[in-house]
Amino acid sequence: MGVLADFRRRRDRGGTEAFVAPFPFHSRFARSRLPAAFEVTSLANVSGLKGKNIVLGVTGGIAAYKAGELCRLLVKAGAVVRVVMTDAATRFITPLTMQTLSASHVARDLFDADEEARIGHIRLGDEADLIIVAPATADAIARFAAGTAGDLLAAVVLASRSPVLLAPAMNVNMWQNPLTQQNLGRLLGLSRFKTVGPDAGDLACGWVGEGRLIDPTEIVAAAERLVAPGDLAGRRIVVTAGPTFEPIDDVRFLGNRSSGKMGFAMAQAAARRGASVILIAGPVALGTPPGGGILRQDVQTAAEMRVALIAAAARADVVVMAAAVADFKPASRAEGKLSRRSVAGVVAHAGTRARATTMSLALVANPDLLAEISRGRRGGRPWLVGFAAEVTADAQELVKRAIRKLSEKDCDVIIANDVGTAGTGFGGDENAVTLVFPGGASEVLPRAPKIVLADAIWDRLAGRIPNRARSGSGRRVDGAVSGRRAAAVRAPGPRVAQTRGRRA
Ligand code: PMT
Repeated sequence: MGVLADFRRRRDRGGTEAFVAPFPFHSRFARSRLPAAFEVTSLANVSGLKGKNIVLGVTGGIAAYKAGELCRLLVKAGAVVRVVMTDAATRFITPLTMQTLSASHVARDLFDADEEARIGHIRLGDEADLIIVAPATADAIARFAAGTAGDLLAAVVLASRSPVLLAPAMNVNMWQNPLTQQNLGRLLGLSRFKTVGPDAGDLACGWVGEGRLIDPTEIVAAAERLVAPGDLAGRRIVVTAGPTFEPIDDVRFLGNRSSGKMGFAMAQAAARRGASVILIAGPVALGTPPGGGILRQDVQTAAEMRVALIAAAARADVVVMAAAVADFKPASRAEGKLSRRSVAGVVAHAGTRARATTMSLALVANPDLLAEISRGRRGGRPWLVGFAAEVTADAQELVKRAIRKLSEKDCDVIIANDVGTAGTGFGGDENAVTLVFPGGASEVLPRAPKIVLADAIWDRLAGRIPNRARSGSGRRVDGAVSGRRAAAVRAPGPRVAQTRGRRA
């Protein structure tokens, strides 16, 4: 009990710390420098799963051991997790493990008077914002589809009106069996039920194929998507992220310190809210955000980004320019690798033994991609979100510069950030931004993790995107991009026929 209480305290403290970070504008000094019309918003409670009641149903399959990791991730995301285990599940992972990880009593028995008195199965289902069943075995799926209520989990699912996210895991033949697919189809016919996964690969039973429990991070991403507002559903959004590298020779380049984290966060948050996102990424070391809905295109230079952007923007409702596009590039690219000697030869016309001590590099301006998209748009489409990277801690000056950029580049909003403060802007996991709209209205979003800020930004922008910019089809790009690993919340049916027989 002591351990659990301590865990709960730490969890609460962790959640609070994660979302209400200190922000310099909260100081009296900083506030006194804010323009009168400035609004400083608290970013508490903006995380997708924070504070959500989640029933985690664990059924009896070998993948049940991964439910522990899933539970940990859900708790870390700020969710309140109540675990319900079937009898079979307790043979694979102990209730004590799940109780410790969820910091809450594990419900198991429909007919246990004590358990029912604590929180009855009807209340469990009623209070759930989301029910996740992971792993969902063929047997559990069959029970849900048949509408039985003979065990606690089936009763909770049947008695609840909450959305249910199934993460199937089973032998490939069980998965592909028409009976399983029919059961799943029946459930998916009801809008309450969604699936994530399964993944394909080596299965514990010795077969290779589809049927592995999808990675817990993908289940969390799918859950986040299910509880997200959905206010960008049907929107086609292009996000640029990261730096551009402008080659000097075959091994060197001009670049900047953008990590891509802010742009990737904008893309991830948009996809979670239902948008189909094209993410044009400069050279970054980031994986594509989990959860599906994102088609990624990697580029190196501003010229490559321009080509990808112009093509994508033609069909976009919204373009978000979070990339730090190099303003200049070398006038020419040297072949091979410039050496001190070759530079000296070129610059000083010295003999072969000369070694340069200085070198001049001629630069030419890159096109301004945001301004170009803006000039080319018709009827206000696409809606344009520009960023402004400024080095100033003065809030009024930041807004002044953002207003200038807003009018120079003719966009619909500028998201200004001070990139001179340690830990925010370039490279860091956190940022602090000021939204500046035409007419001069502005809002400060204080320092917070970039993904939290991205959601807060979309909270403010989603309602401003003109309706006429809505896409007609509302078709997502999941199928095109998900590949084997990206878990779209998707319709049933094997993604790939992978039954190649038993492993040796
Ligand atoms: O990637 P991270 O490490 O997470 O860092 C995030 C960030 C600091 C890079 C991001 O928050 C940010 O500020 N991005 C914009 C960087 C930038 O280039 O700002 P700017 O003020 O120089 O340009 C203004 C706008 O014009 C930007 O939307 C930029 O994408 C666009 N631009 C700039 C130059 C150019 N040649 N073409 C452009 O389209």
